[in-house]
Amino acid sequence: MRDGEQAAFARSATVPFLEAGNEDAVAHWTPHLELARAWLAEDRGRVVGNCCVFSRDVTVPGPVGEDCPAVPFAAVSGVGVHPTHRRQGLLRRMMTTMLDHARERGEAFAGLLASESHIYGRFGFGLATSAAAVAIDVRQKAFRHDLHPAPVPIELLDPEKAAKVLPDLHDRLRRRRAGDVSRNDATWSGLIRDLPSYRGGMSARMYAVTDGGFVAYRGKERDSRTGTPGRVEVRDLYAENPEIEAALWRFVLDLDLVDEITAFPRPLDDPIRYRLAEPRGVRTTRIEDFLWIRVLDTPASLTARAYHQPGRLVLDVARLDVAALDDRPDPAAGRWVLDAGPDGVSCSPAGPGDATDVRIGLAELGALYLGGVNATTLAAAGRLDEERAGAAAVADRLFATVPGPFSGTGF
Ligand SMILES: CC(C)(COP(=O)(O)OP(=O)(O)OC[C@H]1O[C@@H](n2cnc3c(N)ncnc32)[C@H](O)[C@@H]1OP(=O)(O)O)[C@@H](O)C(=O)NCCC(=O)NCCS
Repeated sequence: MRDGEQAAFARSATVPFLEAGNEDAVAHWTPHLELARAWLAEDRGRVVGNCCVFSRDVTVPGPVGEDCPAVPFAAVSGVGVHPTHRRQGLLRRMMTTMLDHARERGEAFAGLLASESHIYGRFGFGLATSAAAVAIDVRQKAFRHDLHPAPVPIELLDPEKAAKVLPDLHDRLRRRRAGDVSRNDATWSGLIRDLPSYRGGMSARMYAVTDGGFVAYRGKERDSRTGTPGRVEVRDLYAENPEIEAALWRFVLDLDLVDEITAFPRPLDDPIRYRLAEPRGVRTTRIEDFLWIRVLDTPASLTARAYHQPGRLVLDVARLDVAALDDRPDPAAGRWVLDAGPDGVSCSPAGPGDATDVRIGLAELGALYLGGVNATTLAAAGRLDEERAGAAAVADRLFATVPGPFSGTGF
């Protein structure tokens, strides 16, 4: 895309999402765009589609007890084709362009958040992290007596101060788990600007911060005259240890004029249910697919993360599970020997003497990558073939990460 076309991109991006004319959406998009990584599709001089990539990084599993490394990846976003030009192969062409460009830059994998979960498997993206939405009934919100967290000093920050404090704090805290994507200046200014049209009738975001943690939430007070229940919606809750996490939950659960507290996105292994005296007071209201990963370079991806258990696997990675992007060979496909453990990892092409242990598609490799699903689960779903009995269990141990991967950042 050329300089000066940012507004055209942003306007085009509103059309596929049925938001044409939404100037807030235009304002939201423009600062995110990187000229070298944004593409417009045109037909007879008219813009009919758009796609872009953000240069971001994502945390991948790190050594036990250490921060997770953050690995640069191609964060695919802003994908849309106008309704007049759908199902003519434009997305396929745009995806080819974006992935080729990412490979040229040396990015080991790409990732995206999907509007519909059946679109991207065909391009080799696998469901790597999921997120839970939880609802907490305030009548059953008491912490277990023995676990009641000590209050910690908490400060409410206005947006200006939040903009100064939160970027570094988030960047530090996100490294405690695999799967969280970096937030750059554009991300933070969008969050802090917090346009009213994105608030869903609730308050502006409020920020409660303590040393080593923060929570961002919206609220709507109970109206006892009309009987309208009060609600709080937690968006971010990050903490550097379980004690601070408990104290931040306590802060949220103690808010007055509230009948229901919801939180999204939350990790699937969120300990909140076990903190409460009435575990039934926490309902998981839905589980959503969040980060999808597309491996572009198998050895570079697999050696970028740490492994907590030792194991050796010969993986036969198929080009694509559903359909190819085009006729060229995919460099991520092939047979690879993964030899990994707490002391290090190597991944190299398999030789004729290396018998295949597991056959897997690229999308399934992307799903396994952060440890968000077990290989045995994929095998049970018919999406991974074990060539050697017990090989899927070896893959389970090798790829497992504790705590499980979690992405709290959209893009
Ligand atoms: C999703 C979208 C970008 C697809 O664009 P497109 O140009 O129509 O896609 P293509 O013609 O390149 O299709 C590629 C393949 O994906 C399939 N596909 C793409 N989108 C699909 C959808 N929403 N539902 C079902 N199949 C879809 C096509 O059938 C085709 O499959 P095939 O090769 O097996 O025949 C377009 O429908 C769109 O803009 N939708 C609204 C906005 C949106 O959801 N964007 C994605 C944000 S993550």
